[in-house]
Amino acid sequence: MAAQLPIPVYTSLDQAMPDLQTAAVQAVRYNNLVEEFEKRFEHKPSYIARAPGRVNLIGEHIDYVLFGCFPAAIERDIIIACGPSTSAPAGSGGVQAANLDPKYKPQTFVPMLKTGGPTATEEADAANTVHAEASWELDIDTRELRWESYVKAGYYGVLNRFFSPASGSQEHPVPVDLLFTGSVPSGSGLSSSAAMGVASALAFLVLNDKLEGLSKGQLVEMAMQNEKHVGVNSGGLDQAASVICTPHSAIFVNFYPKLTAEPIPLPTPRTVPRAVFVCANSLVVSDKAVTAKFHYNLRVVETLVAARVLGRLLNLPLTATERPTLRVILSRWLGTPEADLEKEDVKSAIERFLPEIEKLRPSREGRAAGEEGVTMKEMIELSGLSEEQFNEVYLSWVEVEAEYFQLYKRTRHVFTEALRVLEFREVCVRAQATEGDLPEETLKQLGALLDASHESCSTLCESSCPEVDELTRLAKAAGAYGSRITGAGWGGCTVSLVAEDRVEEFIAKIKEGYAPYRELSEEKLHDAIFATKPSSGAFGVLC
Ligand code: GLA
Repeated sequence: MAAQLPIPVYTSLDQAMPDLQTAAVQAVRYNNLVEEFEKRFEHKPSYIARAPGRVNLIGEHIDYVLFGCFPAAIERDIIIACGPSTSAPAGSGGVQAANLDPKYKPQTFVPMLKTGGPTATEEADAANTVHAEASWELDIDTRELRWESYVKAGYYGVLNRFFSPASGSQEHPVPVDLLFTGSVPSGSGLSSSAAMGVASALAFLVLNDKLEGLSKGQLVEMAMQNEKHVGVNSGGLDQAASVICTPHSAIFVNFYPKLTAEPIPLPTPRTVPRAVFVCANSLVVSDKAVTAKFHYNLRVVETLVAARVLGRLLNLPLTATERPTLRVILSRWLGTPEADLEKEDVKSAIERFLPEIEKLRPSREGRAAGEEGVTMKEMIELSGLSEEQFNEVYLSWVEVEAEYFQLYKRTRHVFTEALRVLEFREVCVRAQATEGDLPEETLKQLGALLDASHESCSTLCESSCPEVDELTRLAKAAGAYGSRITGAGWGGCTVSLVAEDRVEEFIAKIKEGYAPYRELSEEKLHDAIFATKPSSGAFGVLC
């Protein structure tokens, strides 16, 4: 249901904020952006488009295999002042994009209609000559990390959905001016990239008058496609959190057989003690777009191949060209393809399925520690495909690099993590239904699930790093109920469940224990480690 709602556009900031205090703080920031916009572009903006980062509470590296996750939007966000442009470059839909942070240089670009081959001239494209199979091109260089790539990625979906000659559109996108500012640290695992992509898409939608009739779920799907243009084959977790979340709740977001989201209040208000989530940045910057081929995209390929191999080992029906996910394999094993199972049924199905995963365990004979996986050659053999078919299905759309592919470990992580998400949801839902004060035991249960999730991310998914492992250990020693890595990993942030009245003491202990924090100024420290409240998803505000 939450995914079916429209994307809100408010007429004043007060309406958009959960309380007056937050509105007062944000008003300064929004007004400053509007003033700067007027200075730079010499006209007023029409809207502010805003999208938050997210903290994934539990459910890591399982969205792209279509299992449900449990994120919350955070207060840190990207906001864009935007308006139709009178000075953007010629051609339809030209963009002038600037950023309040001087390290991101102003950029100007014009989308081009290309006919697939190199024959279409840019002049013809700029004049919007209608080609039957023409599609939009924005020239994103995926080998280099550039801030405007996310702006361009956000534009793709809007152009292809609403201005595609192939779908019969004769309309031209309007030229636009955009001014960005953001408070989500990049490369920290709090999803600055999805916030950039979603906020940009929203700005293009609202300025082209295309927001009406579009649901939150449709914006999520558009934003997911958009991010592929930056070279990362991510699932929908970040985009769903950034678009669909509501204040005071996390969401249980599910991807199979279709995108659904269920807001679940966290069991904090009536608990004794109350508890909050604290994010701590390891300060190890990990940009998934840069390291995709041996980190993120490799996990995507490993789990996809694992699904086929497991399907074959279980004698499930598979065609040569399909690329089923592990969630689909579970359904085929159950004999319920495409069915929208109740969460309880998925949970018991996973419990029954876990022993089957052992079929994937590689024989260690003759292998040294660290070489337990399978080589590319072995993986192709296990897939039952010819090398050519395998390359076409699994490698033609992505670049990956590894000596050994860990099909068993990744699969074990996926199914146990999917189970933990459902257990976490259950504890929250039960807590909500409990009358009176909640026992501290509830927080301990949630904490134990966070700890188990981290252990799995660290040893089976291998998406952590020594600094993040150290931060989780320090968090536990400082009294957290549980602590885990959040987001893509290989650096970035941890999230810890901490009693609210002990947050200050908790932060002081982490500062003392984690060497990279010792030299930080108060301001930088506040940026690196902070308690966060679940915030609202994306919205627009009329200026
Ligand atoms: C990144 C991706 C998400 C998800 C997480 C890991 O944030 O963008 O889709 O896969 O990593 O859980």
